[in-house]
Amino acid sequence: MFQIPKKLEWVNDTFNTGQKLGIFKARVTDQQLNGRTVTVNSGKEVIFFGNCSYLGLEINPEIQDAAIDAIRRYGTFFSSSRSFIGLDLNEQLEEQFEKIFERPVNICPTTTLGHISNLPILVDRKDAIIMDVFVHQCVQTAVALCKSEGTHVEFLRHSQLDLLEEKINQLKDKHRNIWYMIDGVYSMFGDGAPMKELEYLMNKYEQLHVYVDDAHGMSWAGPKGSGYVLSQIKYHEKLFLGASLSKGAGVGGAVMVYPDRKIKETIKNCGSTMVFSGPMHPSTIVSALKSVEIHLRPDFGDRQLAIKQRIEYFIKRSRQLNIPLIGEYLTPIFFIGVGSIENGIMFTTALIEAGFFVDIASFPSVPLKNTGLRITVTNHVSIEDIDSLLVFLSDFITKMESEGKFDREEVRKAFAPKVRVPKETY
Ligand SMILES: Cc1ncc(COP(=O)(O)O)c(C=O)c1O
Repeated sequence: MFQIPKKLEWVNDTFNTGQKLGIFKARVTDQQLNGRTVTVNSGKEVIFFGNCSYLGLEINPEIQDAAIDAIRRYGTFFSSSRSFIGLDLNEQLEEQFEKIFERPVNICPTTTLGHISNLPILVDRKDAIIMDVFVHQCVQTAVALCKSEGTHVEFLRHSQLDLLEEKINQLKDKHRNIWYMIDGVYSMFGDGAPMKELEYLMNKYEQLHVYVDDAHGMSWAGPKGSGYVLSQIKYHEKLFLGASLSKGAGVGGAVMVYPDRKIKETIKNCGSTMVFSGPMHPSTIVSALKSVEIHLRPDFGDRQLAIKQRIEYFIKRSRQLNIPLIGEYLTPIFFIGVGSIENGIMFTTALIEAGFFVDIASFPSVPLKNTGLRITVTNHVSIEDIDSLLVFLSDFITKMESEGKFDREEVRKAFAPKVRVPKETY
């Protein structure tokens, strides 16, 4: 009989318990979506503060019409590897993305698949990889392929560039290139990578290359929606970017950005998933073409401005209400500390009851005592929606404190030394 591996038992049990409570794997049963609300747990309508479609483009009528038209013209799937034959639409989309990034790009069905093609080609066994301890799991998965080929791999404390510099100095005489792997915007706490300092280090150390998963930075930030990283620095010759189109761009798929055309072509011709996996669906490619067209319009900045106003309001109001917001980052991801998993369950259940859906962030995504509410804002929700969420939370925290069930200062303290390095790498 199948035995659940010991180390997964806890995760499995947590998911199963959470599902029974309606806070994990919640099922949305609406027959039509509007982006702002969803119906969960057999009939409860809640304002959706777990949506990562930051600009609200997933229900944009122009994009929807483009996708419907594409299915009628090209069918639901073009069933061949692009290595043999593919729709010209693929190349059209790459050309359009090059207008946003001003660098060569490859498109692929998911960010994860993009990293899996990129890393084994970019990274040599003589290289060293240093991963931020919070870099997304999909980068870690691709790094494991490099490690299995003999590349030296280690983790580093979150965003600590003084330690990075020490590491570079330790490793630089023994390795060809040094790769630092990070997220552009971290998907749990919503903090942005220190790009300006990294630019300085890339200029200082010839061997340093920076590989960034900017999945959560795409569209809402940067010139023409090119993402958080390019909102901070200009493209650097030793910078490699991957961005998801299933968040800010509102369509699905991913785009990988390279410093030069030879690298792009080598990865397209030799990357395992580029060769052996199927292409993006035609409806996704055509909706991405429409989404890029929207990104390139002169009024695109209005959409970015709308989300920035919501982000700023969230921070300002949390301060006024003394909500234990962990970090105040100008990104659409917020993390409110609640401490234990039991508190996480208590908060999320009460929030659903009150008409708000937020994600519960718990172990192993965050350390055990750092459970929190991971809240995303989109252009679908109004300033009034944000206000009512935060006022509810403030009242709930006050009530829990008066009953001795919660202590916001204790929670703040639990997050102070927040970042821990895992004991083992792999
Ligand atoms: C930072 C980050 N990168 C990558 C992904 C996975 O993207 P994809 O589903 O395109 O593989 C996620 C998941 O949401 C993410 O948060």
